[in-house]
Amino acid sequence: MGDTIAIIDFGSQTSQLIARRVREAQVYCELFPYDTPAETILSLEPSGYILSGGPASIYEEGAPRIPDFVIQSGQPILGICYGMQALADALGGKVAPADTREYGLAEIQVDTGDGLLKLGTQQVWMSHGDRVEVLPDGFQAIASTKNSPNAAMGNPTDQIFGLQFHPEVEHTPMGREILRRFAVDICGAQANWSPSSISSEAIQSIRDQVGAGSTIAAVSGGVDSAVASVLAYQALGEQLQCVFVDTGLLRSGERELVSSILGPLLGDQLQVVDASERFLTNLRGVDDPEQKRRIIGEQFIRVFEEAAAHMERPHFLVQGTIYPDVVESSSQDREVAARIKTHHNVGGLPPDMDFELVEPLRFLFKDEVRKVGRELGLSDALLERQPFPGPGLAVRCLGQITPPRLERLRVADRILTDELLAHEQVSDQAFAVLLPVRSVGVMGDQRTYGETIVLRVVTTEDFMTADWARLPHDLLALISSRIVNEVPGVNRVVYDITSKPPATIEWE
Ligand code: XMP
Repeated sequence: MGDTIAIIDFGSQTSQLIARRVREAQVYCELFPYDTPAETILSLEPSGYILSGGPASIYEEGAPRIPDFVIQSGQPILGICYGMQALADALGGKVAPADTREYGLAEIQVDTGDGLLKLGTQQVWMSHGDRVEVLPDGFQAIASTKNSPNAAMGNPTDQIFGLQFHPEVEHTPMGREILRRFAVDICGAQANWSPSSISSEAIQSIRDQVGAGSTIAAVSGGVDSAVASVLAYQALGEQLQCVFVDTGLLRSGERELVSSILGPLLGDQLQVVDASERFLTNLRGVDDPEQKRRIIGEQFIRVFEEAAAHMERPHFLVQGTIYPDVVESSSQDREVAARIKTHHNVGGLPPDMDFELVEPLRFLFKDEVRKVGRELGLSDALLERQPFPGPGLAVRCLGQITPPRLERLRVADRILTDELLAHEQVSDQAFAVLLPVRSVGVMGDQRTYGETIVLRVVTTEDFMTADWARLPHDLLALISSRIVNEVPGVNRVVYDITSKPPATIEWE
């Protein structure tokens, strides 16, 4: 393979960001937990290694260490924060707790950059308790701060470097350039990772994997499954059958939008299955959120089995799994994360379906998926769509799911979305939720006793944390008045002002 950088992950919150920055420099890289077997990493023939930060302290018992094969590889190495401390420790230097924890912005003075850092002063982001007190033999300090004489270290002969600060975060403005210089100038990796190279490689590898086998793809209307399906169609043509399931839990106009955008890109291979009746029948009377999700997951499987039945037995299933899913599930295997919600993506069908998985986006970040999508001719109307949960409106229609209640929710949701668009209010996710809570109101001379709509509008970087959007009051007033006037059965609108955590973005 070659021209690849291997990132050894010691568990920092920002390890994925390191990978994204290296990819932005058009160099392919992969992230590996620190105890990944050497053969797995060496099979990529890395041109260099980056060691991430991490929460441990190198002098604690059981602290993770740098694998021997990395040190012995003779390739350039860049240690970041804990990665620098682990390097110093492994090479004979000394690490100790700093007098004061350094956290936040700092200014470094670079006297000798060793080809990695530009000379002069620059702003960086620090977050560490330990620091390198004594440099290993062959190293010199290449940058310092008021508190850290060894804010960065370098051994120009062996091309091994350590940074006490985090180049991967936005608060280090020169960080992107530092990581690019390491990957391209120091490791000599070719900067050839681009959307067109990604899609042509993906198309070739789908062909190699599938051969003449027949293949089915689940299209959810989301970005990932759309891009994965179009790639698979370009690779396989009529060997591929794409299935979009109308569960009856879609938003207003969604089925038409997805068919009109994806239909032309998937030739005649897109089949829209109207399964709304079976979904709604099975959900009748159910109000428990987890049970709703289980029923929906189960019904998806049934629909797929039926869609696949008339085909020559399909052997392959295309899924839009992306890199963060892969990285997160491999770290969850280690310390089983608390299950907060059972996530059922359309792409998350259980393995008992007896398909071999085709996952062309398995090594891509979301922004790369969008770039590939654009290259394949998908419009922004689809690529820039906000996330929508696999179980659809079922988890936004609290309480029992009935056609009239779904219709109420759909109309309210459409009003919210239209008004946000008309007033150019950008948010990362915006939707309505229908509560099974009735309250008294008055309309004209009539007493009303109607249900409640919640407006949920959030801003977020990564959907792991989120804040509620500070929408202008006049706009909230307009949306509220339209909903109460235009949605029969709703007489009250409330705005959700809870951040995540402690709340989640969805209500179920
Ligand atoms: P929460 O509610 O956990 O949501 O803060 C975080 C993000 O995930 C989306 N979400 C889902 N997506 N299947 C999905 O594909 C699901 O079951 C599901 N539940 C939540 C949610 O819309 C938000 O973007």
